[in-house]
Amino acid sequence: MKLESTMLKAAELLAEFDEKKGFSNLFLRHRLKDGEWDKGLVVSIFYGVLRNSILLDVLIKRLSKRGKVRIKRVARMLLKVAMWLMLFARFKAVHVTNVAVSIVKGRWIWLTSFFNAVLRRASALNLEDLEKEFDDSVFYSIPQPFLDVLKSDAFFENNRDKILRQFNEEIPVFARKMKNSVDLAHTGALTEVFSGWYRVKFSRKVERGYSVEKIANSGYYITSLSTYIVERLFDRFLDDSSNVLDIAASPGGKSMIASEYVSHVFSNDNKFEKCFVLKRNFKNYGIDNAYIICSDAQKLPLKAKFDVVIADLPCTHAGFVRRHPEVKYKITRGLVNSAAASQLEMLKAASKLVKPSGVLFYIVCSMLREETIAVCSEFLRENADFIPVNFEKNLKFLKDPTEFALAEFGVNWVRVFPGGDWDGYFVAVFRRKRSA
Ligand SMILES: C[S@@+](CC[C@H](N)C(=O)[O-])C[C@H]1O[C@@H](n2cnc3c(N)ncnc32)[C@H](O)[C@@H]1O
Repeated sequence: MKLESTMLKAAELLAEFDEKKGFSNLFLRHRLKDGEWDKGLVVSIFYGVLRNSILLDVLIKRLSKRGKVRIKRVARMLLKVAMWLMLFARFKAVHVTNVAVSIVKGRWIWLTSFFNAVLRRASALNLEDLEKEFDDSVFYSIPQPFLDVLKSDAFFENNRDKILRQFNEEIPVFARKMKNSVDLAHTGALTEVFSGWYRVKFSRKVERGYSVEKIANSGYYITSLSTYIVERLFDRFLDDSSNVLDIAASPGGKSMIASEYVSHVFSNDNKFEKCFVLKRNFKNYGIDNAYIICSDAQKLPLKAKFDVVIADLPCTHAGFVRRHPEVKYKITRGLVNSAAASQLEMLKAASKLVKPSGVLFYIVCSMLREETIAVCSEFLRENADFIPVNFEKNLKFLKDPTEFALAEFGVNWVRVFPGGDWDGYFVAVFRRKRSA
């Protein structure tokens, strides 16, 4: 497939995304039908440029040597695409320059010499030199407000190099086998990482037959491997007699896993459209023991109390920064504080629905201290009838403990930083005292 159409498609998508914002995975979902471009490469370029956007912008500014150059959004994205291909994907600089210039000649002829000059200068750069030259915010393209939040965290500071090195890496796609899954073991499309959990393989040979869509349509749930941590804990805390409530359930990942351990689950979400997603997923994955409630978690019309309440709460998504690089450009201390405050309120509401001796799961796809550990401390301070549950021994499940090196453990919580196969994640478990 032609590199020309692939680069142009990636630039057009980046320009449109830059204008519309939103979540990158949802944005890309319907925009990559077959065409003259290499779909896999378009996706890699799209995410590559998004992840390294600040560094690429700074370099363009420096290399253009003409002060502020006004160029169309798509043309600017094309320049970033070409620079990303040279610097990060190590495509031959001459080839990338020729292709970019030929696109420019056909569309914005007045930019030809500018593109030529910038890309020729860019071809002399290499990442090792740039790392020495720029501070972390520029080199790793982490906006200062987000970096400031991270820097106030001792665990981050103590593991700074290790964390930053993995911050912009691609993360594999994982799939969990559900009860009605077709067995795809013979296809070579999946590699088992833990029992029932698979890494999706993307070799060209495999992808032609088994795309992510086809794997999902074969009954596998595409989700973060970090959810496996929750499954190990469900294994310990849920049994057939447990009465379970999932207060923020859509799209249904935790509810569906929980439904395999218990006779029934109540799954709540506050938005109608999200409840439809829940309904569709339960139907597609053959879940017939989960009942949907559509209510604000803080006003749930329930008199009953539950053995297990799952509070997998809305957050900044900071832990999913490698899957959704756009997240890092939005995080500020204000956003983190407001996410933490609303989590505390929802956690308190959830706690009221836990039976004496029952357990409360607090889960977020973030590793930021303020919306994880700090929320736990505040919750325990305000709710003396709950105690931390020691689950340390339940997490000794990894084949290679070094895979989890970017994690911090508390008595009843684990905080994972994005790295290796893992998304940033936080899980804590509290137990309501018997006498409550
Ligand atoms: C992190 S997601 C849950 C993911 C889900 N547990 C899973 O495993 O697939 C958080 C969910 O909380 C829902 N939500 C946000 N505010 C809520 C509220 N006040 N009451 C109930 N649900 C809420 C959102 O619509 C979103 O679907």
